[in-house]
Amino acid sequence: MREDEPAGSVAAPLVRQLPLALTAPSGAGRAGLALAAAPLGWLDAHRAGILHPDEEALLTDRLHARRRHGLLVGRYAAKRALAVLHPDRDPRGFAIRPGVLEQPVLSAEGLGNLGVSLSHAGPVAVAIAFPEGCPMGIDLERARPDLVPLLLDQTLPAERQCLAACLDAPEAERLTRLWCLKEALSKALRCGLTVPTALLAVGGIERSAQGLVATFANFAQYQGLSFAAGDLAAALVWPRTVTLSIAAADRAGWQAALAEAAAGWPGD
Ligand SMILES: CC(C)(COP(=O)(O)OP(=O)(O)OC[C@H]1O[C@@H](n2cnc3c(N)ncnc32)[C@H](O)[C@@H]1OP(=O)(O)O)[C@@H](O)C(=O)NCCC(=O)NCCS
Repeated sequence: MREDEPAGSVAAPLVRQLPLALTAPSGAGRAGLALAAAPLGWLDAHRAGILHPDEEALLTDRLHARRRHGLLVGRYAAKRALAVLHPDRDPRGFAIRPGVLEQPVLSAEGLGNLGVSLSHAGPVAVAIAFPEGCPMGIDLERARPDLVPLLLDQTLPAERQCLAACLDAPEAERLTRLWCLKEALSKALRCGLTVPTALLAVGGIERSAQGLVATFANFAQYQGLSFAAGDLAAALVWPRTVTLSIAAADRAGWQAALAEAAAGWPGD
């Protein structure tokens, strides 16, 4: 879905929102997933209707345009993910501030315990809003053949064999999918990439109705879902005791949005 798109415009954002049903031993819950792709010009022009004043304050003049774009499109995706859970709330009422580990910390008046995780790559961002009791992490990357040597260095042979056994895809995509799973885990854990990447190793991968589902060698408490379209790859990580359900039509819509975002990537 393209929003606010006047005929012939190419500058309008792409947005896809997805409700996720969570089933835990302690009960049921919901999460909101969103993908957003928007040019910096659109985000700057519309930020007054999106950002909390504390978020606006993060946009100092010193920011490089790339960082400014990431900050804006990430907050925009996060607000759309939150809108899945709270459609009637003004996005400006949600403040997502950096915590001491640089992790996103969400606050809003009268809001229950919700968390967010977000990731940006160029003009595209993905975000997940989730009950804080069910920690999640998300990552998005663009698969680039020139990064293959680096990614070979940051993944283990066992992980690579594991994925190759169930996915026939170019090496850059396979390695990027592994990287996304590890980085999404690092966000769920709040450590980010401050730990050796081998510690975040994928332990197993199998195909399920939801897609490619991974477990982790050293963090048996978590599982991850890997998806990709065009040259964009993403991963969502959440606790293994929780079943996550996405309706088939929503899954197809999400995949289509990821493909559209990848196809619309500005030329290098
Ligand atoms: C988390 C991390 C892996 C993300 O790296 P990235 O690939 O460049 O960026 P992504 O777009 O995928 O994700 C960025 C988002 O991750 C989130 N994030 C940052 N640190 C996080 C952490 N410790 N835990 C969870 N999420 C975190 C933020 O929301 C950030 O976006 P924002 O700054 O616009 O709010 C990386 O920033 C990291 O390792 N941070 C750890 C803290 C650290 O070492 N900081 C010093 C950096 S010099």
